[in-house]
Amino acid sequence: MGARFSSFKQAQTKAHNDTFEFDIATVDSPTLRDSDVLVKVHAAALNPVDHVVSRGVLKDLWPEAEKLPFTPGYDFSGKIVRKGRAVKGFHHGQMVCGVQWGTGSKGGRYHADDEEGGPCGGSLAEYIRVPVSSLVKVPKGMSPETAAALSMVCQTAYQGLFDYNSIKSGDKVIIFGGTTAVGQIAIQLAKNMRCNVFATCSTGKIDFVKALGATPIDYTKQSWWEAEKGFDAGFCTTIGDSDAAHLKDDGAFKPGAILSSILTAGPATEEGTPKVVKFVFHQDAKALQQMVDDAAAGKLKIEINKTWKGLTAENLKEMFTEQKTAKSLGKNVLVL
Ligand SMILES: NC(=O)c1ccc[n+]([C@@H]2O[C@H](COP(=O)([O-])OP(=O)(O)OC[C@H]3O[C@@H](n4cnc5c(N)ncnc54)[C@H](OP(=O)(O)O)[C@@H]3O)[C@@H](O)[C@H]2O)c1
Repeated sequence: MGARFSSFKQAQTKAHNDTFEFDIATVDSPTLRDSDVLVKVHAAALNPVDHVVSRGVLKDLWPEAEKLPFTPGYDFSGKIVRKGRAVKGFHHGQMVCGVQWGTGSKGGRYHADDEEGGPCGGSLAEYIRVPVSSLVKVPKGMSPETAAALSMVCQTAYQGLFDYNSIKSGDKVIIFGGTTAVGQIAIQLAKNMRCNVFATCSTGKIDFVKALGATPIDYTKQSWWEAEKGFDAGFCTTIGDSDAAHLKDDGAFKPGAILSSILTAGPATEEGTPKVVKFVFHQDAKALQQMVDDAAAGKLKIEINKTWKGLTAENLKEMFTEQKTAKSLGKNVLVL
């Protein structure tokens, strides 16, 4: 039960392409399943997967990515306005955040195994229907922009270090792509574990990486495999071809090291030194709640690259175009 209204506005893409022409459509208020809530969206953050799905690149991997019209946006924050009958532990008016990634998210690389046909999206809208299992409570004082921005990248970074890797205190760790949104969080999580962290970045972002507590390796001027050796573990969020060609160089990683990676092309695992383990993040609201609370306590932060205000076709086109550059320092966020 909760607020009653019959329609709302949502962004829709009607064709898979990279022109990022969205319609702002008026749609009927959705029916909730027992374990769903309806959230009035205050902020939605983009991830690279948004422009990838909009371009139709993933349409063979999960059914929801093939459907048209499609409403993009996975990360959301906002206020609960309606609850399904089985929803417990959350109340009307509560500020929540999370990722609308479907109900299953059982792990595995592509998640086409859940009852909704895989990641659903839909946060670029005035309202979004989400399963309660994806919800996290936004601590008092945290902005909607920050809450939305943390949602996917925190879960991804956490899993890259601790679920698909086994990073422990004192490890010498390399993060490829230390300034990606995921990489920023990964550096901080590893530093909070008292690891010795190195991170690749370009020249202009060296100070940013230092401020996060990592030793920067400028990928435009240095060869990471010569700058440092003997890593206990690595996490790859992005990497150029010439850097990737040296991952298995003698001495770069210690025997038994794992390189977890969110770049998922090719086989899921590759044996050797390091052993490469590729993954797609899965829903883990418990871990996300801890990280959101840590962010509120000042132990974790996410850079916001740019915010746009208002659900308009012009704003969406700009946001998606910016996201696709892969040069943003931090998250691109829409405030509704
Ligand atoms: N598998 C999963 O579950 C999962 C989840 C989330 C994201 N992802 C993927 O992970 C990647 C990162 O996502 P994101 O949202 O964190 O990215 P992002 O924030 O959009 O990344 C932008 C940053 O990447 C840096 N960068 C670009 N090329 C680089 C290179 N060769 N070496 C080091 N840094 C480089 C840029 O810095 P410079 O300007 O200095 O180059 C920029 O700061 C994307 O490919 C995304 O699709 C996968």
